[in-house]
Amino acid sequence: MTVRKVVEYPDPILRTISSKITVFDDQLQFLIDDMFETMDAYNGIGLAAPQIGLSKSVLVVGYKKLRFPLINPRIVESHGFSINQEGCLSLPSIHVDVERKDKIKVASKTVNGDDIEQEFSGFLAVIVQHELDHLNGKLIIDYGTPKVSLKEVD
Ligand code: CO
Repeated sequence: MTVRKVVEYPDPILRTISSKITVFDDQLQFLIDDMFETMDAYNGIGLAAPQIGLSKSVLVVGYKKLRFPLINPRIVESHGFSINQEGCLSLPSIHVDVERKDKIKVASKTVNGDDIEQEFSGFLAVIVQHELDHLNGKLIIDYGTPKVSLKEVD
């Protein structure tokens, strides 16, 4: 497994719509393994393939004890909304208030290429929607005015 470099805004790949995964082989599992390792190395709670320079419809989430990939994900149902302050590994030091759906149902593929539907709510739903946005070339700065947090100097 390899820690990949996380690309930062304004790299154009962050604005590119990802292509769907059509081949479910070892390479896909290796990519997912690398994405988890990269997410952990950067202390992230989610990561999308475009953030490591690959325009492919794969994201990973790692929040508390939950760790899972989503392949070719799409939201098929959603309810309610919540506003959360979000950050992004590709936009260091920036936070934006983003309105998200509170509950979502997501259709995706397993690593073996089987269809799967899962429901997410609360903060987990926020992470999934954030990473799913990356697959569509969308970033948190598209939702409002960024608040830049300046690091305090000793
Ligand atoms: Co992000």
